[in-house]
Amino acid sequence: MRASPAPVPELPPVVAAAYARARRHGFVLSCEPEVGRLLATLAAGVPTDGRILEMGTGVGAGTSWIVHGLGARDDVRVTSVDVDGETSAIAREAGWPAWVTLHVADVLDVLQALGRFDLIFADAQGGKWTGLGRTIAALRPGGVLLVDDMTPPAWMDDAHERHTAQVRATLLTHPDLVTTELACGSGMILGTRRRDGA
Ligand SMILES: C[S@@+](CC[C@H](N)C(=O)[O-])C[C@H]1O[C@@H](n2cnc3c(N)ncnc32)[C@H](O)[C@@H]1O
Repeated sequence: MRASPAPVPELPPVVAAAYARARRHGFVLSCEPEVGRLLATLAAGVPTDGRILEMGTGVGAGTSWIVHGLGARDDVRVTSVDVDGETSAIAREAGWPAWVTLHVADVLDVLQALGRFDLIFADAQGGKWTGLGRTIAALRPGGVLLVDDMTPPAWMDDAHERHTAQVRATLLTHPDLVTTELACGSGMILGTRRRDGA
């Protein structure tokens, strides 16, 4: 007899609320649950008094996965930045813990002022398609970078495909990173900033 497949865990309430918000507002760019679950897992491992950056808040799905991963911790600071004020306002509809800050800005304009991070979810064109080197430089030694949408079901256009190939090449060959590709969800690359030479 074949074992029945393990049940898929239900979405945590904070995450279910974020996806409901996205549906209500017709926002279709939220990270997939496969990506979010990894993000939550990585958030849970951030060191004491750590810092997490999300580039591209959207309506708060990624942020909600981070909040879920941190659970009862209140020592970690979470910063999420979106260039679109309307989208960010929708994300603000959620009641976030006091240690979550949502900014409206082009993330590349504020990156230097924001400092360095233990975990970065680079989920906006700024900081990923452009300025990826600056994103990598914003990782603390041992810091972890997650990017998704590396193998989407379809390319929006040639530029999308070209930029994604460039992101992949940069991440997989960067001397400061140890990286791996994960063929699940929309396709992810996970990188850790080396502790030597940082
Ligand atoms: C894929 S969505 C983010 C989804 C979100 N991280 C999640 O997991 O649900 C990309 C977002 O990046 C924002 N964005 C695009 N360019 C940006 C930039 N240069 N700086 C900040 N946000 C940017 C867009 O407005 C959009 O809301």
